[in-house]
Amino acid sequence: MEQGKDRKARRITSAFVAAGMTLGVAGGLAALTTTSSNAATAAGCTAVYSTTWDSGSGFGAQVVITDDGPAWSNWTLSYSYAGNQTLQNGWNGTWAQSGNTVTVTNAAYNGAVASGGSVTPAGNFTYSGTNAAPTSFAVNGITCSGTVPPTTPSTTPSTTPSTTPSTPPTTPSTTPSTSPSSPGGGTGHVANPFLGATSYLNPDYAGEVNAQVAADQPSNPTLAASEAKMADFPTAVWMDKIAAITGTGDSVHHGLQWHLDQALTQQQAGTPITLEVVIYDLPGRDCAALASNGEIPATAAGLTEYESQYIDPISTILADPKYAGIRIVAIVEPDSLPNAVTNQSKPACATATPFYEQGVEYALNKLHAIPNVYNYVDIAHSAWLGWSSNMGPAAQEFAKVAKATTAGVASVDGFISDTANYTPTTEPFLPNSTLQIGGNPLDSAKFYQYNPYFDEYDYDQAMYTQLVGQGFSPNIGMLIDTSRNGWGGPNRPTVLNTSPTTVDTYVAANKVDQRSFRGDWCNQNGAGIGARPTVQPYGAANHIIAFVWIKPPGESDGDYPTATHTHGDPHCDPNGTNTDGNGGTYSTGSIPGYDVPAGQWFAAEFQQEVTNAYPAL
Ligand code: BGC
Repeated sequence: MEQGKDRKARRITSAFVAAGMTLGVAGGLAALTTTSSNAATAAGCTAVYSTTWDSGSGFGAQVVITDDGPAWSNWTLSYSYAGNQTLQNGWNGTWAQSGNTVTVTNAAYNGAVASGGSVTPAGNFTYSGTNAAPTSFAVNGITCSGTVPPTTPSTTPSTTPSTTPSTPPTTPSTTPSTSPSSPGGGTGHVANPFLGATSYLNPDYAGEVNAQVAADQPSNPTLAASEAKMADFPTAVWMDKIAAITGTGDSVHHGLQWHLDQALTQQQAGTPITLEVVIYDLPGRDCAALASNGEIPATAAGLTEYESQYIDPISTILADPKYAGIRIVAIVEPDSLPNAVTNQSKPACATATPFYEQGVEYALNKLHAIPNVYNYVDIAHSAWLGWSSNMGPAAQEFAKVAKATTAGVASVDGFISDTANYTPTTEPFLPNSTLQIGGNPLDSAKFYQYNPYFDEYDYDQAMYTQLVGQGFSPNIGMLIDTSRNGWGGPNRPTVLNTSPTTVDTYVAANKVDQRSFRGDWCNQNGAGIGARPTVQPYGAANHIIAFVWIKPPGESDGDYPTATHTHGDPHCDPNGTNTDGNGGTYSTGSIPGYDVPAGQWFAAEFQQEVTNAYPAL
């Protein structure tokens, strides 16, 4: 027995038995490259600084530093701001500020950088007045000096077209690119659609956020101030029903054309903009759960409806030449092919599977035919497909469907994990699933059920290898939905605790994932906003090309049946239970006291996620 909804749950294979940016960009990307041109500094570096979002009082910055000399075993980056920019938090290194000078020292996992390799520390800042980009950078005391292009005078808020940089942020030379990215256009099909682009800020989402900010301001201005920052990050546009295409599906969400038109108005001259759209309406959708059951039946007629009433109109809109400069990232049918792999024991999934496969094939064909559309297929998450008995068959299933398309595997630009789920990107204190505690490997802990993949980073690396092994291009990019997988707040461990002597107590003391069961997926109590949308969070050489926010934080995962309404999903009932298939029963982990339908605003969930954000907002 298992549950299973994906992002929702995974089916737990009988573990004990068979083991078995975007970035936001409001203020515009200030790209600044400095290169060592001096023989005396042959052991040099290149630093590319970008403003990833800018709200007028806060901003995100990332610095891609490339080692142009011998390998580094450790690195320290330093640079100075001219204004009053003040560090709030940072990642991919330890950030500190003294006066105007910012220093970042490597984290344990990214100190070693090969010659020619890159790392990308990133942080968030507050400021007032002018937010001028720094002009000089040093790594390990060596100045990355050389030609400094004019800085972007982007003191202006987002919607103002930037006057700016004649060159887009440069792509580090190690990045594969299928075609040169033309400055300014979304035209041409690049290897990483997020690189050198700004991101679409969804005004519908900003509206939801700002209404909550206004409601919370009088009683809790501190919370409201943190909440307000959420409106400055890109989130996906969900096409979760046929009516969503025209925007007639509800009173909050506009239609697809409206969003694309808004993206054109947000686009800065000379810089591509990326817009994420979720394709989510297969016949018999959400076959292993009830929260997001679809409107289209899993029948031959349903497949025809999906193709002609859903995919065709979407494709027609996306193919409009006036949108050719927008890089459209399509997130293709969350949960569907994973359900086809692991939930065949559920009659609804067995029935739906052929329609999922044909529907995804059709969607890939139509979307790939549009040069500025990028297809990212959903691969669930580590806690669903991490077991080898699931991972291999899943990679085969993705390859089977992709190979059936006209362009074959080339119709897929990459894959996304953790869509709308809560699994952490990393478990910083549990890096080794085979670590022996009390004579047993960590993955034998009840929480992991012999699944060796504890987090999305490791899962994506392994999935990449499997997928390339099945024939996908080595240039595929992996995305992680980090919208709600932060798990900050008071319950997050901050240091490794080596005292526990059993695998279960060791895992409980050290995991950042605060769920009692990894199969819990609905409106999780204690969850927090995860890493901000980031391009190349691990540098240009890593296959993870971006962190994205696909699930808009604050929108519910689903409701549950009660005396007054019969629809909904018991997995969303805070008083309900989930089971692991191995005799274990757990709380659903859903936030107590609320019952909000899928996709609708859930104020308490948003407040909690903002409060528990990691890194803090
Ligand atoms: C729901 C959709 C919703 C999306 C974004 C999904 O779980 O099924 O209706 O648009 O989340 O909130």
